[in-house]
Amino acid sequence: MKRKTVLLRNDLALPAGYRLLPATWRDLRALQRLEKVCFPQDAWPFLDLLGVLTWPDVVRCKVVQEQAMVGFAAGQEIEGAGWIVTLAVHPAHRRQGLGWALLQTCEDALPQPVLRLAVRASNHGAQALYRAAGYEVVNRWPRYYVDREDALIMEKQRPLEAG
Ligand SMILES: CC(C)(COP(=O)(O)OP(=O)(O)OC[C@H]1O[C@@H](n2cnc3c(N)ncnc32)[C@H](O)[C@@H]1OP(=O)(O)O)[C@@H](O)C(=O)NCCC(=O)NCCS
Repeated sequence: MKRKTVLLRNDLALPAGYRLLPATWRDLRALQRLEKVCFPQDAWPFLDLLGVLTWPDVVRCKVVQEQAMVGFAAGQEIEGAGWIVTLAVHPAHRRQGLGWALLQTCEDALPQPVLRLAVRASNHGAQALYRAAGYEVVNRWPRYYVDREDALIMEKQRPLEAG
């Protein structure tokens, strides 16, 4: 399968000291640490993290500060739609536009006209980010998470590119 390329947009200005880069399997340990901090209840198992960093049909990117990963996002096609499967920014680096930049970069690398994601019903901060990026709630999956909290499914429709 053809490897997807994460192209970095030059209009996504990050605060000084941060860089947006493609992520690779070398980021496994750093991603494990970031996930534990950002998703205390929902951190992915080791094999899922390895998969998201290596599967050829996954798009992935990271934000680093002085070589240290402080943000990560990934997306992939699932049943015809592009899904943002994870998005995380370390708490010490939030509200500076890093989550927005990671989301936009993943979106750019996904070719599907429909984008979707799942978010905890109580996660109002992430929902605010997604709404600002053009997503709206289209479904609710009851008791989706390990503690039986509902997931909201948010979706964004993009116009098909001509040609
Ligand atoms: C959600 C998350 C990725 C946002 O990262 P971030 O780098 O802080 O987001 P940004 O700075 O790019 O925010 C962009 C805009 O989104 C909205 N937003 C982001 N976080 C918000 C919050 N906690 N409350 C309200 N609005 C928020 C704001 O409109 C913000 O713009 P502003 O700061 O100018 O007001 C981060 O909080 C996180 O990692 N949370 C834990 C993991 C998580 O919930 N991931 C999403 C799972 S679906």
